[in-house]
Amino acid sequence: MSDKKKTASKGFSGKMGYVLAVAGSAVGLGNIWRFPYLAAKYGGGIFLLTYLILAVTFGFTLIMTETALGRRTGKSPIGAYRALGAKKMMFGGWINAIIPMLIVPYYCVIGGWVCKYFFSFLGANASQLQEDTYFTNFVSKPIEPLFWLLFFAIAVFVIIARGVEKRIEQISKILMPLLVLMAFAIAIYSVTREGALEGVKYYLIPNFKQFSIKTVVAAMGQMFYSLSIGMGILYTYGSYMKKDIDMESSIRQVELVDSIIAILAGLMIIPAVFAFAGGNPETLQAGPSLMFITMPKVFLSMPMGRIVGMVFFLLVFSAALTSAISLMESGVSTITEQTNWSRKKSTVIMLGIIIILGIPSSLGFGVLSFLRPLGGSILDFFDFITNSIMMPIAASCTVILVMKVCGFKVVIDEVKSSSKFRRKGIYLFIAKYLVLLFLAVILISSILTALGITKI
Ligand code: PHE
Repeated sequence: MSDKKKTASKGFSGKMGYVLAVAGSAVGLGNIWRFPYLAAKYGGGIFLLTYLILAVTFGFTLIMTETALGRRTGKSPIGAYRALGAKKMMFGGWINAIIPMLIVPYYCVIGGWVCKYFFSFLGANASQLQEDTYFTNFVSKPIEPLFWLLFFAIAVFVIIARGVEKRIEQISKILMPLLVLMAFAIAIYSVTREGALEGVKYYLIPNFKQFSIKTVVAAMGQMFYSLSIGMGILYTYGSYMKKDIDMESSIRQVELVDSIIAILAGLMIIPAVFAFAGGNPETLQAGPSLMFITMPKVFLSMPMGRIVGMVFFLLVFSAALTSAISLMESGVSTITEQTNWSRKKSTVIMLGIIIILGIPSSLGFGVLSFLRPLGGSILDFFDFITNSIMMPIAASCTVILVMKVCGFKVVIDEVKSSSKFRRKGIYLFIAKYLVLLFLAVILISSILTALGITKI
């Protein structure tokens, strides 16, 4: 099939289709699981503020660039670099393409935890979920978390192998608004618990004393992760976007939905840490386990809490599933394009990668917990090298590609072909002068962490 035909057959039907598909990829564990634990860890309000500023400036600039290059060339990152004549910069295309393959394995580990919690809320012993040691006991077991990793990974595999992503997307279009509503209701419940007000203040009022380069590094990594930037995904989605769809306003809508869900997730979880654990600093620093430790306490304190907990984890599962599908899909299309292997073979290989890299991430909380690469768990390690090191490099490559190879005119013309491009001035300012500088700062600080001078 020619590239043109491929693009046309996969093209989104309209603006709504595009926004929903990209939001389906963007909204996932990053918003509900990752954002709240980072906000809790890095000072609450100051993290939230830093994140929002970054998302509307750097995030906006990078999403626009990746999407415009994707739509202009009609290709995924490696093909886009080639089409733009960036022979010497093919590394940039490759790094964009490899990142999703490194993320999806540990993404499936967390997806597996979500499945475990869903089934546990269904089961008779649901009340145990609120015990502080429940989560640690579960993740430190050798076999059970691996079973759930496989469960989640195989669900994603089956959907992709059978080519039924579209149907799943349609279901998620119904479930996403439900997730927003539910997050909203749970957030109201959380913030009205006794003692929660302290948490609301911690989360919403920036305390500038807590600001450091680490806040920026964490918020920047989160911006990449949550908005699916710097991993080739937006090129690919851009290549499916019809020429007459208003790019600027579609992207604004995706950013808005993504940020609203993240903010609500923080409001659900952080005040609850104060209401149920007295704002215990250790709990605030819990990291990847925060959602799993805190949310069961919230649910089991409310009437019909077991059902609410079950529905909540089901909705999180569906958000995680659509994101994992887009991550795995990106890996599969890279393998197919670069090797000419059949889609089936590439999908099986991608499942193999997920299992091989997912197993150590999962066992890192139990039998492999003596391994502490860069001072964190194995899962933290994969999370850190992809979000804080590789994505800034991938994004820098995109900006260098535009600056040195194709010129800003290509991006601007592409955006202007369908939008007024109101934020062109700020776009150019950020793209030209700040992005590289900023990414360099992040990179330097990440390298300091990698060398053990500061911790993850
Ligand atoms: N943005 C997704 C999330 O927040 C993760 C993801 C990244 C999905 C990259 C697809 C591509 O969970």
